[in-house]
Amino acid sequence: MAKVSRRSEAVDPFIVMDVMAAAAAKEAAGDTVIHLEVGQPSTPAPKGALAAAHAALDADRIGYVAALGMPALRERIAKHYRETYNADVSPERVIVTTGSSGGFPLAFLAAFDAGDRVALAAPGYPAYRNILSALHLEAVDLPTSLADRYQPTVAELEKAGPIAGLIVASPSNPTGTMVTRSELTALANWCDHREVRLVSDEIYHGIVYEGETTSAVEVSPHAIVVNSFSKYFSMTGWRVGWLVVPEELVRPIERLAQNFFISVPTLSQYAALAAFECRDVLDAHVARYKANRDLLMAGLPAAGLDRLTPAQGAFYIYADVSHLTNESRDFCKRMLQEAGVATTPGVDFDRARGAGTLRISFAGSMAEMEEAVRRLKAWRRG
Ligand SMILES: Cc1ncc(COP(=O)(O)O)c(C=O)c1O
Repeated sequence: MAKVSRRSEAVDPFIVMDVMAAAAAKEAAGDTVIHLEVGQPSTPAPKGALAAAHAALDADRIGYVAALGMPALRERIAKHYRETYNADVSPERVIVTTGSSGGFPLAFLAAFDAGDRVALAAPGYPAYRNILSALHLEAVDLPTSLADRYQPTVAELEKAGPIAGLIVASPSNPTGTMVTRSELTALANWCDHREVRLVSDEIYHGIVYEGETTSAVEVSPHAIVVNSFSKYFSMTGWRVGWLVVPEELVRPIERLAQNFFISVPTLSQYAALAAFECRDVLDAHVARYKANRDLLMAGLPAAGLDRLTPAQGAFYIYADVSHLTNESRDFCKRMLQEAGVATTPGVDFDRARGAGTLRISFAGSMAEMEEAVRRLKAWRRG
């Protein structure tokens, strides 16, 4: 048999997909499931974005566009930095990507060489590590603690050995926690003094309940910023995101993007451009997420889930369940089968400590959150 590459074998499966499959099987058997495992908004793209897509379908042949993105969208994203962060970003530094997922390989390939070591927080979004491994880059876990809001610290970086890059995500998936402006500045300065490339995943910016988001563009001219229309803009399936990169990376990324992808889906770029003018409805989603978060933080302790990380942003609560189980995968399986509530085991996010944690997504409706609490309380009593 012809070979299967070692680099693809180094990539772990996404356990949440197994949970989703088990939930679908339960639903197919006629049961109802409350989905607290999904990491996406339950709402469609805003109406203005849909209208722009309809208009583009009628007027445009939806052909290829420039590899770095439609100029109007790059300009609009640059304006977003002025509006939101009071930061000057030239449109030339903005690169439209196929979701932020499409941005990671471009950023990593342009910034790092095979064998380079890249540090990242554990727990963290699993695709970072998996994309790094597939590209023959070494992911270096920085163990984090609740005391540091599960964010990397300079003290941990000092212990990491030689690294070429650092990935920071604020608000974070799976913890919903954030770095402060001074913490991000300290991390960026540490990186800049050592010529370490900071990669800042800002995909949950806009979905914030407490504190203030700082973009890495504000604190370092060398950082790569990753963002997306998937979360705040409620457009996961449109597969459109963006990078802001330092000038020296624009041309390398352009060459990579031309060859890998030619261009990002044109229809989605029209929709994304219009989404910037739909703030009211998008901010209403954030208000609902906040109400959901408050409801779960108040209700879950009575169901035995009382070690919760209060999310400052994103739509996740990270729960310590180590007093209830030493195998979160099994615990989530039982919760799904017996209570009809699907959550994600922590092993997806933290290979060393995730057997004692799980992630609860509150992106759904308030009625679903109420029902989840009711079911979990009954499960606990049962
Ligand atoms: C922290 C984080 N980064 C990146 C992504 C990828 O999202 P997308 O490719 O839809 O932009 C996700 C998706 O859940 C995420 O949680």
